[in-house]
Amino acid sequence: MEVSKIDSIIEQYGARESALLAILQDIQAKENYLPKDALEYVSQKMHIPLVRIFRIATFYNALSLKPRGLHKIDVCLGTACHVRGGSKILEKIERDLGVSVGETTKDNRFTLESVRCIGCCSLGPVAVVDGKVFGRLGQDKVSGLLKEFK
Ligand code: FES
Repeated sequence: MEVSKIDSIIEQYGARESALLAILQDIQAKENYLPKDALEYVSQKMHIPLVRIFRIATFYNALSLKPRGLHKIDVCLGTACHVRGGSKILEKIERDLGVSVGETTKDNRFTLESVRCIGCCSLGPVAVVDGKVFGRLGQDKVSGLLKEFK
């Protein structure tokens, strides 16, 4: 990521530690992940230890140290979704995309993750694609869902 782009993000929020999360979110939004060299630059520029930045970068699910695909799929494996077949939905998506949880498809189209309860338990099993919730999923609906995002 170009240094000038990082500088303009930092300028927008101010080089305060309290703005660090917002700055990392903006970098994530522009690059689809947090490149290591960008984090090192933020650390130097804002005088914040790199280890503290990595702690934040790994704590929030919305941030990623690995490049993500164009579309992010989160399959809920919380208790309510699990008992309604959430893990079967996950297995079907893994088979259809040829990836495991935490991986990105070779064409960089999808990144697959699992989550623990997103608060829509009555709709279970649920998956979230790019922030949009899809409920009452069955294995028969997975292929159609994925086609919507191809
Ligand atoms: S357990 Fe899946 S939304 Fe609550």
